[in-house]
Amino acid sequence: MQNLIRKNILNLRPYSSARSEFSGTASVFLDANENGHDLFGEALNRYPDPLQLAVKQRIAKLKGVPIESIFLGNGSDEAIDLLFRIFCEPGVDEAIICPPTYGMYRVQADIHGTPIREVLLDENFHLRPESILEAASSSCKLLFLCSPNNPTGNLLDPYSIELLLENFKGIVVVDEAYIDFAEGATSWAHRLDEYPNLVVLQTLSKAWALAGARLGMAFASPEIIHYMNVVKYPYNVGLPTQRAVLSALETGLGDTVPITIVERMRLTEALSELDFVVQVYPSDANFLLVKMRDSSLIFNYLKQNGVVVRDRSREPLCEGCLRITVGTALENNKLLRLLGAFRIDQLC
Ligand SMILES: Cc1ncc(COP(=O)(O)O)c(C=O)c1O
Repeated sequence: MQNLIRKNILNLRPYSSARSEFSGTASVFLDANENGHDLFGEALNRYPDPLQLAVKQRIAKLKGVPIESIFLGNGSDEAIDLLFRIFCEPGVDEAIICPPTYGMYRVQADIHGTPIREVLLDENFHLRPESILEAASSSCKLLFLCSPNNPTGNLLDPYSIELLLENFKGIVVVDEAYIDFAEGATSWAHRLDEYPNLVVLQTLSKAWALAGARLGMAFASPEIIHYMNVVKYPYNVGLPTQRAVLSALETGLGDTVPITIVERMRLTEALSELDFVVQVYPSDANFLLVKMRDSSLIFNYLKQNGVVVRDRSREPLCEGCLRITVGTALENNKLLRLLGAFRIDQLC
């Protein structure tokens, strides 16, 4: 691990915040240059816990992962950013991605000056582990795998992931943003003890309906989590978010995940019957990748009628594809009504 981490990060003397130096109870806090007046209520005049221990205790219970193996950030996008900062010397180290996949891996690589090697998924959107290992050189420090994959929606084959964890010489990041929608899937977070080079990403933005709160999670060895904590901004998760998350975890998910899965099936069937739909790909996530004739016309038609979907047709292997989030029953009804009424001549 020490060989994978950038030298400047290994030698970093991290910023020590007032709240990390003193974490006990006291009656007067004059250590953080805060405003002692609680002007707006709710103690927002005070800095939050930099390591979010109360939230981590709940997440540890929920996910079955020890606190030392949990990092919390401003969305899982923050964790992606930190992994580049920790492992990739700008302009020297490289990362591997498997398109079509989540766009932020490339954006973060570009921001950090990290060259990307691309190894496309196969035509069924499965990994090609041998090709990935062939493409990997000693400067490839990060490999991003997204399962279920965005935008294709499918879980990646666990045997391929295992092969990569055992043979790739850098860090394997398994992004499980959509895992809660994958029936019967088990998280790679339960395999951390076996693979010191594994980082699992999850988020509360999807199944937990907290995209606006911004809370992402990384699960990894205590050593990797240590470096994520020293590199992150000291107070990276605000107090309102920590409170919102604690209260959501107390309340629980309810039945929105099974409802979404039922809606996913309903949408799949209804979309498959439309004559301009070529294929609805099977999905383990809360969205569908749909191949259509005239996809850009349909995209614009939906937009003109107030329904926004994602045009993925310029992604490799996704020609003619729109990515459609599974919404509420009402939202899906509106989508289906509009698509049922679509005629090319209406657009002219
Ligand atoms: C695969 C994947 N990973 C990560 C994220 C980022 O999630 P967050 O809201 O936690 O930053 C997304 C968001 O769409 C995603 O699709």
